[in-house]
Amino acid sequence: MEMVRLDPPAELTMPIGEAMFSQRATRRLDPDRPITDAQLKIILDAASKAPNGGNVQPARFLVIRDREAIKKFGKLYHEAWWAKRRDAYGWKGKEDIPEGSQYRWAALLADEMENAPCVILAYSAASGVAAASTFPGVQNLLLSARALGIGSVLTTLHPEVMERVHEMFGIPDDVVFHCCIPLGYPRGNFGPTSRLPTSETTYWDKWGEAPPWK
Ligand SMILES: Cc1cc2nc3c(=O)[nH]c(=O)nc-3n(C[C@H](O)[C@H](O)[C@H](O)COP(=O)(O)O)c2cc1C
Repeated sequence: MEMVRLDPPAELTMPIGEAMFSQRATRRLDPDRPITDAQLKIILDAASKAPNGGNVQPARFLVIRDREAIKKFGKLYHEAWWAKRRDAYGWKGKEDIPEGSQYRWAALLADEMENAPCVILAYSAASGVAAASTFPGVQNLLLSARALGIGSVLTTLHPEVMERVHEMFGIPDDVVFHCCIPLGYPRGNFGPTSRLPTSETTYWDKWGEAPPWK
Protein backbone atom coordinates (compact mmCIF):
# COMPACT_ATOMS: atom_id res chain seq x y z
CA MET A 1 0.00 0.00 0.00
CA GLU A 2 1.22 3.48 -0.83
CA MET A 3 1.92 5.75 2.16
CA VAL A 4 0.51 9.28 2.35
CA ARG A 5 1.73 12.44 4.07
CA LEU A 6 -0.95 14.76 5.35
CA ASP A 7 -0.93 18.39 6.40
CA PRO A 8 -2.48 19.10 9.81
CA PRO A 9 -6.22 19.68 9.32
CA ALA A 10 -7.21 23.36 9.64
CA GLU A 11 -10.06 22.29 11.96
CA LEU A 12 -7.70 21.02 14.68
CA THR A 13 -6.85 24.33 16.30
CA MET A 14 -7.57 23.58 19.96
CA PRO A 15 -4.39 23.83 22.04
CA ILE A 16 -3.15 20.33 22.86
CA GLY A 17 -3.22 21.13 26.59
CA GLU A 18 -6.86 22.11 26.48
CA ALA A 19 -7.77 18.97 24.56
CA MET A 20 -5.83 16.67 26.92
CA PHE A 21 -6.97 18.28 30.14
CA SER A 22 -10.65 18.49 29.27
CA GLN A 23 -10.96 15.11 27.53
CA ARG A 24 -13.21 12.89 29.60
CA ALA A 25 -15.38 9.81 29.28
CA THR A 26 -18.56 11.06 27.60
CA ARG A 27 -21.28 8.49 28.09
CA ARG A 28 -24.35 10.48 27.12
CA LEU A 29 -24.18 11.33 23.45
CA ASP A 30 -26.60 13.38 21.39
CA PRO A 31 -28.26 11.03 18.89
CA ASP A 32 -29.74 13.94 16.92
CA ARG A 33 -26.55 15.86 16.23
CA PRO A 34 -24.69 14.01 13.52
CA ILE A 35 -20.96 13.82 13.07
CA THR A 36 -19.89 14.45 9.49
CA ASP A 37 -17.79 12.17 7.30
CA ALA A 38 -15.28 15.02 7.02
CA GLN A 39 -14.91 15.09 10.83
CA LEU A 40 -14.47 11.34 10.90
CA LYS A 41 -11.74 11.57 8.29
CA ILE A 42 -9.89 14.10 10.45
CA ILE A 43 -10.24 11.84 13.50
CA LEU A 44 -9.02 8.75 11.64
CA ASP A 45 -6.20 10.67 9.96
CA ALA A 46 -5.12 11.80 13.46
CA ALA A 47 -5.25 8.17 14.62
CA SER A 48 -3.06 7.13 11.70
CA LYS A 49 -0.32 9.53 12.81
CA ALA A 50 0.34 7.74 16.11
CA PRO A 51 3.48 5.79 16.94
CA ASN A 52 3.42 2.08 16.14
CA GLY A 53 6.02 -0.67 16.08
CA GLY A 54 8.24 -0.55 12.99
CA ASN A 55 5.68 1.70 11.28
CA VAL A 56 3.95 -1.56 10.33
CA GLN A 57 0.60 0.11 11.12
CA PRO A 58 -1.49 -2.88 12.15
CA ALA A 59 -4.41 -0.79 13.51
CA ARG A 60 -7.71 -1.13 11.67
CA PHE A 61 -10.86 0.84 12.51
CA LEU A 62 -14.43 -0.08 11.67
CA VAL A 63 -16.64 3.01 11.64
CA ILE A 64 -20.30 2.21 12.23
CA ARG A 65 -22.70 4.91 11.09
CA ASP A 66 -25.86 3.03 10.20
CA ARG A 67 -28.54 3.87 12.81
CA GLU A 68 -30.18 0.48 12.77
CA ALA A 69 -26.81 -1.26 13.07
CA ILE A 70 -25.86 0.95 16.04
CA LYS A 71 -29.17 0.15 17.74
CA LYS A 72 -28.52 -3.55 17.28
CA PHE A 73 -24.91 -3.18 18.37
CA GLY A 74 -26.08 -1.19 21.42
CA LYS A 75 -28.07 -4.22 22.57
CA LEU A 76 -25.01 -6.45 22.18
CA TYR A 77 -22.91 -3.90 24.07
CA HIS A 78 -25.49 -3.90 26.87
CA GLU A 79 -25.31 -7.68 27.04
CA ALA A 80 -21.48 -7.60 26.97
CA TRP A 81 -21.26 -4.99 29.72
CA TRP A 82 -23.47 -6.95 32.06
CA ALA A 83 -21.73 -10.25 31.18
CA LYS A 84 -18.46 -8.66 32.29
CA ARG A 85 -19.88 -7.48 35.62
CA ARG A 86 -21.59 -10.85 36.13
CA ASP A 87 -18.20 -12.59 35.62
CA ALA A 88 -16.30 -10.15 37.83
CA TYR A 89 -18.74 -9.36 40.64
CA GLY A 90 -21.85 -11.50 40.18
CA TRP A 91 -23.94 -8.39 39.49
CA LYS A 92 -27.17 -8.98 37.60
CA GLY A 93 -28.75 -5.53 37.67
CA LYS A 94 -28.20 -1.90 38.64
CA GLU A 95 -29.43 -2.55 42.16
CA ASP A 96 -26.34 -4.77 42.71
CA ILE A 97 -23.88 -1.93 41.97
CA PRO A 98 -22.64 -0.32 45.20
CA GLU A 99 -23.71 3.28 45.85
CA GLY A 100 -21.09 5.78 44.66
CA SER A 101 -19.28 3.23 42.45
CA GLN A 102 -17.86 4.43 39.11
CA TYR A 103 -19.65 1.44 37.63
CA ARG A 104 -22.94 3.29 38.03
CA TRP A 105 -21.69 5.62 35.26
CA ALA A 106 -20.40 2.77 33.19
CA ALA A 107 -23.77 1.04 33.48
CA LEU A 108 -25.29 4.21 32.04
CA LEU A 109 -23.14 3.74 28.95
CA ALA A 110 -24.56 0.23 28.55
CA ASP A 111 -27.98 1.87 28.20
CA GLU A 112 -26.76 4.78 26.09
CA MET A 113 -24.63 2.99 23.49
CA GLU A 114 -27.55 2.58 21.12
CA ASN A 115 -27.94 6.39 20.96
CA ALA A 116 -24.41 7.06 19.73
CA PRO A 117 -24.38 8.67 16.28
CA CYS A 118 -21.19 6.76 15.52
CA VAL A 119 -19.33 3.79 16.98
CA ILE A 120 -15.75 2.89 16.10
CA LEU A 121 -14.33 -0.57 16.73
CA ALA A 122 -10.53 -0.69 16.96
CA TYR A 123 -8.76 -3.82 15.75
CA SER A 124 -5.32 -4.79 14.65
CA ALA A 125 -4.31 -7.03 11.80
CA ALA A 126 -2.98 -10.02 13.74
CA SER A 127 0.43 -9.93 12.09
CA GLY A 128 1.26 -6.56 13.66
CA VAL A 129 2.36 -5.60 17.17
CA ALA A 130 -1.29 -5.75 18.26
CA ALA A 131 -2.44 -3.64 21.23
CA ALA A 132 0.71 -1.62 21.83
CA SER A 133 0.58 -0.39 18.23
CA THR A 134 -3.15 0.32 18.25
CA PHE A 135 -3.79 2.25 21.48
CA PRO A 136 -1.56 5.23 20.66
CA GLY A 137 -3.78 5.72 17.59
CA VAL A 138 -6.89 5.33 19.74
CA GLN A 139 -5.63 8.10 22.01
CA ASN A 140 -5.05 10.38 19.00
CA LEU A 141 -8.57 9.55 17.91
CA LEU A 142 -10.04 10.54 21.30
CA LEU A 143 -8.06 13.77 21.48
CA SER A 144 -8.79 14.88 17.93
CA ALA A 145 -12.50 14.18 18.52
CA ARG A 146 -12.30 16.33 21.65
CA ALA A 147 -10.65 19.12 19.67
CA LEU A 148 -13.62 19.03 17.29
CA GLY A 149 -16.05 19.23 20.23
CA ILE A 150 -16.99 15.56 19.87
CA GLY A 151 -17.27 13.37 22.97
CA SER A 152 -16.10 9.77 23.23
CA VAL A 153 -15.44 6.99 25.69
CA LEU A 154 -13.14 4.02 25.40
CA THR A 155 -14.77 0.72 26.28
CA THR A 156 -14.47 -3.00 25.70
CA LEU A 157 -16.71 -5.94 24.80
CA HIS A 158 -17.06 -9.51 26.12
CA PRO A 159 -16.32 -12.87 24.45
CA GLU A 160 -20.02 -13.73 24.79
CA VAL A 161 -20.95 -11.25 22.01
CA MET A 162 -17.88 -11.24 19.77
CA GLU A 163 -19.11 -13.85 17.30
CA ARG A 164 -22.36 -11.96 16.75
CA VAL A 165 -20.53 -8.63 16.42
CA HIS A 166 -18.16 -10.14 13.85
CA GLU A 167 -21.00 -11.71 11.91
CA MET A 168 -22.97 -8.47 11.91
CA PHE A 169 -20.18 -6.43 10.35
CA GLY A 170 -18.37 -9.08 8.31
CA ILE A 171 -15.25 -8.89 10.48
CA PRO A 172 -12.73 -11.62 9.58
CA ASP A 173 -11.28 -14.09 12.12
CA ASP A 174 -7.67 -13.02 11.67
CA VAL A 175 -7.97 -9.55 13.25
CA VAL A 176 -7.71 -8.80 16.98
CA PHE A 177 -10.33 -6.69 18.74
CA HIS A 178 -9.04 -4.01 21.13
CA CYS A 179 -11.75 -1.55 22.04
CA CYS A 180 -14.98 0.15 21.16
CA ILE A 181 -15.38 3.93 21.00
CA PRO A 182 -18.79 5.59 20.68
CA LEU A 183 -18.58 9.16 19.37
CA GLY A 184 -21.05 12.01 19.49
CA TYR A 185 -21.67 15.52 20.70
CA PRO A 186 -21.99 15.39 24.49
CA ARG A 187 -25.25 15.78 26.34
CA GLY A 188 -23.21 17.40 29.09
CA ASN A 189 -19.81 19.04 29.37
CA PHE A 190 -16.17 18.23 28.80
CA GLY A 191 -13.62 18.15 31.70
CA PRO A 192 -12.16 18.74 34.20
CA THR A 193 -11.19 15.22 35.28
CA SER A 194 -9.73 13.93 38.58
CA ARG A 195 -6.54 11.88 38.68
CA LEU A 196 -3.93 10.74 41.18
CA PRO A 197 -1.18 13.34 41.65
CA THR A 198 1.84 12.55 39.50
CA SER A 199 4.00 12.98 42.62
CA GLU A 200 2.46 9.66 43.72
CA THR A 201 2.65 7.82 40.41
CA THR A 202 6.09 8.98 39.20
CA TYR A 203 9.48 7.86 40.51
CA TRP A 204 12.73 9.68 39.95
CA ASP A 205 15.93 7.83 39.00
CA LYS A 206 15.09 4.97 41.37
CA TRP A 207 11.78 3.13 41.93
CA GLY A 208 10.08 4.61 44.97
CA GLU A 209 12.00 7.93 44.91
CA ALA A 210 9.74 10.97 44.68
CA PRO A 211 9.99 13.47 41.78
CA PRO A 212 11.16 17.05 42.58
CA TRP A 213 7.60 18.44 42.63
CA LYS A 214 6.52 16.15 45.49
C1 LIG B 1 -9.56 -0.29 29.05
C2 LIG B 1 -10.70 0.64 29.37
C3 LIG B 1 -11.96 0.11 29.56
C4 LIG B 1 -13.03 0.94 29.87
N1 LIG B 1 -14.28 0.42 29.98
C5 LIG B 1 -15.33 1.22 30.21
C6 LIG B 1 -16.65 0.69 30.29
O1 LIG B 1 -16.87 -0.52 30.17
N2 LIG B 1 -17.66 1.54 30.47
C7 LIG B 1 -17.46 2.89 30.62
O2 LIG B 1 -18.45 3.61 30.79
N3 LIG B 1 -16.23 3.42 30.58
C8 LIG B 1 -15.16 2.62 30.36
N4 LIG B 1 -13.90 3.16 30.28
C9 LIG B 1 -13.70 4.60 30.50
C10 LIG B 1 -13.16 4.84 31.90
O3 LIG B 1 -14.15 4.55 32.85
C11 LIG B 1 -12.68 6.29 31.99
O4 LIG B 1 -11.67 6.50 31.06
C12 LIG B 1 -12.15 6.63 33.38
O5 LIG B 1 -13.12 6.38 34.37
C13 LIG B 1 -11.72 8.09 33.46
O6 LIG B 1 -12.84 8.89 33.17
P1 LIG B 1 -12.69 10.48 32.99
O7 LIG B 1 -11.67 10.71 31.90
O8 LIG B 1 -14.06 10.95 32.60
O9 LIG B 1 -12.26 11.03 34.30
C14 LIG B 1 -12.81 2.34 30.00
C15 LIG B 1 -11.54 2.87 29.79
C16 LIG B 1 -10.49 2.04 29.46
C17 LIG B 1 -9.13 2.62 29.22
